[in-house]
Amino acid sequence: MGMDINNLPLIREECEILHMTDKQLKEIMSRLHNDLVKGLSRDTHPTAIVKCWLTYIQDLPNGKERGKFLALDLGGTNFRVLIINLGENHFDMQSKIYAIPSHIMTGTGVALFDHIAECLANFMKEHNVYEERLALGFTFSFPLKQMGLTKGILQRWTKGFSCSGAIGEDVVQGLKDAIARRGDVQIDICAILNDTTGTLMSCAWKNHNCKIGLIVGTGSNACYVEKTENCELFEGEPTKPAMLINTEWGAFGDDGALDFVRTEFDREVDSNSINPGKQIQEKMISGMYMGELVRLALVKFTTMGLLFGGRGSDLLFQRNSFYTKYVSEIESDKPGDYTSCMDVLEELGLSHATESDMAAVRHVCECVSRRAAHLVSAGIATLLNKMNEPKVTVGIDGSVYRFHPHFHTLMCEKIAQLVRPGITFDLMLSEDGSGRGAALVAAVACRETLGFA
Ligand code: GLC
Repeated sequence: MGMDINNLPLIREECEILHMTDKQLKEIMSRLHNDLVKGLSRDTHPTAIVKCWLTYIQDLPNGKERGKFLALDLGGTNFRVLIINLGENHFDMQSKIYAIPSHIMTGTGVALFDHIAECLANFMKEHNVYEERLALGFTFSFPLKQMGLTKGILQRWTKGFSCSGAIGEDVVQGLKDAIARRGDVQIDICAILNDTTGTLMSCAWKNHNCKIGLIVGTGSNACYVEKTENCELFEGEPTKPAMLINTEWGAFGDDGALDFVRTEFDREVDSNSINPGKQIQEKMISGMYMGELVRLALVKFTTMGLLFGGRGSDLLFQRNSFYTKYVSEIESDKPGDYTSCMDVLEELGLSHATESDMAAVRHVCECVSRRAAHLVSAGIATLLNKMNEPKVTVGIDGSVYRFHPHFHTLMCEKIAQLVRPGITFDLMLSEDGSGRGAALVAAVACRETLGFA
């Protein structure tokens, strides 16, 4: 091993741009608050950046939902089909993951829905319900302009999807048409929902304080319970006091609102993406981009001669080669221990890294993930302050929150600092919100329409 020159102080200095002060976070909160109000208000909604879509979900589960439901979950890394039995105080659930090949992710909308319908039919065969007529909840985690519980017009693709001919179309109709083209199975699509709303619903089943749903996974987004009187886009009779609002806060920053804290790494991630200029906040937070942000910083420091003796590797210089799961792995090493870090660097062809290189790599990971946790915290604190209720539980799902060793703690600390005095909160991991939530929304919808108690 050559001389181990310690460049950590210089790298720490370079990483300062990834640090957001409380003053900056409070500025972000005030901008997000304004954007949320714009999204909700009839006059400003058309040009709003944070759309605050209505979900038409007005009833939280009361724990009495019963029955057998199918659910689809599209919009994370995996596509899943589930069958769920809701019973008294318990539910059982079987599911299967299907790949969405990349030619389908970027093909046509029709091909995507045909693929989904085919997986659904195969799943029904395997679970011996092929002949049954079942209710289905569809978790479709992209921005939808909902016109009701079973009608949602796709606004934009996010997270690497780009199927043609789907934007501006009703996604429920797309799935119905695909099922009809097959002609073999009978399905009642009872609800279409976002993964954030599924997460909220599945937590609310057990915990009645749960009024915010958050995803920090492939993408990032939140939903919350808003007073119906503030939902200016709602046209029906305001018979129920509240409605879930899907904020689609991933788009926050698309008008430059976050430029004052963005870095060269953020701008590069954005310009290399399939949706440049879009989902700016999401690109600073979520799992689809976190590893790449780290990689870009490592590349810069290597090129400056501060890392790896100035000698990178082919993989290090290759886009998206630094997986977001590496960030969680590296930060899971105990202080002073670099076991996982070494494994990752070896995988990347960087086995010539010294101990101070490894300390620097870990520092870069910490800065990027901490910044993500702080941005999410500013968002949650904004919602908590807006709701202004004494005690709210936040239901959370997503790979980053679930697998990162410090994300939960970072969030608890930062939200506590940012939230108005007197407001208390807790953060609850949702066990499979997208799947279970879809069944619950379908169940609540059936309870409504069929008059089940
Ligand atoms: C993206 C989607 C949003 C979803 C989030 C988390 O931001 O647009 O609908 O909730 O990812 O999956």
